[in-house]
Amino acid sequence: MIPLSVPQLAGNEWKYVKDCLDTGWISSAGSYVNQFEQLVADFAGVKYGIACMNGTVGLHIAQVVAGVQASDYVITPNITFIATLNAIKYTGASPILIDVLPDSWQMNLALLESFLSQESELKCINGQWNSYRKEDGKRIFAIMPVHVLGNMGDMDKLQELATAYHLVIIEDSTEALGSYHKGQHAGSFGKFGVFSFNGNKIISTGGGGVIVTNDEALAQKAKHLTTQAKVSAMEYIHDEIGYNYRLVNILAAIGVAQMEQFPTLLENKKRMDDYYRSELSEIGDIEFQMVLPCVVANCWLFTFKTKYMRELLDYLNSNGVQSRPFWLPMNQLEMFKNDIYVTENNNSNEIYQTSISIPSSAGITKAEMAIVVQTIKTFYSKL
Ligand SMILES: Cc1ncc(COP(=O)(O)O)c(C=O)c1O
Repeated sequence: MIPLSVPQLAGNEWKYVKDCLDTGWISSAGSYVNQFEQLVADFAGVKYGIACMNGTVGLHIAQVVAGVQASDYVITPNITFIATLNAIKYTGASPILIDVLPDSWQMNLALLESFLSQESELKCINGQWNSYRKEDGKRIFAIMPVHVLGNMGDMDKLQELATAYHLVIIEDSTEALGSYHKGQHAGSFGKFGVFSFNGNKIISTGGGGVIVTNDEALAQKAKHLTTQAKVSAMEYIHDEIGYNYRLVNILAAIGVAQMEQFPTLLENKKRMDDYYRSELSEIGDIEFQMVLPCVVANCWLFTFKTKYMRELLDYLNSNGVQSRPFWLPMNQLEMFKNDIYVTENNNSNEIYQTSISIPSSAGITKAEMAIVVQTIKTFYSKL
């Protein structure tokens, strides 16, 4: 079976893990943690990085530090992985789900703008301007764009809306290490960005995340909260409810080795994307995800639309090519059925009904890609 997306561990992973084992520094302190978070921050062009257990807890902490309250709304796209929504719910806040564009699959900002202009009002309370939903008076505090599949939407427009409506930007850039909008790296547009290093990402620590920010005080606060809010190196004194969300040194060691290979793996991904796009462009009714000319995407997981998605999915999986459907839109999940969903055409559902992801490991070989392409061509030739 050609796998969907598996890690490529061809560098110094063994060496650095052995170093942890040999020295006994396997746990919550150690030099690899600092190195890894700085490598990720530097790559993203952001000043500070805070390593944590995974992207989900990173999104949680970023919201807590940004000031999201249980009574707030957080705006996010209706097409995302469940973790985005879970992290919002951990804070107690409620999501406002925005439908996505049918071609790029990113949040529809025109739809968001008309929602905000019609259904919210700006108020200054205790010297702080925020948007409030007219219907229930609840604060609309943050916007969490998700760079779906490593693609990016119009970040100029997103920032313009965030400024006009006083929204704090927290980027779910978990899938977007190596993606740029007008030369600016994903995760660097707002107060916080969060990256994930789980097993299916371009590089992996097994499980891991890094929160990035340009604000030193926010970085310190995030570090403090992810490490049990301990105020003294010696004494067990804690000044608030903290979390044990830190990344352990042995996983950060893998992360350092992975970051060393990241530029090469990113190039492989781009070659893979070029190959799939050129080989599959005329096949059946296949429609690719649109990437804006000002975006350089990291090509994380190759996904396309076809009305034969279900049949193709069965065919590929039973012919040695691991493939997956797309996420069920958030508004269709039981837990979020009663949350606000802003839509005109329900593009999210159309994308869900038609999209399929095909093998995209950073280490995928040309021979494997040729098999994937040939299997897809055979499927369409039989229709
Ligand atoms: C869009 C999105 N958000 C959040 C996450 C959560 O990251 P993690 O799996 O590291 O918790 C992921 C990755 O799995 C993701 O794809």
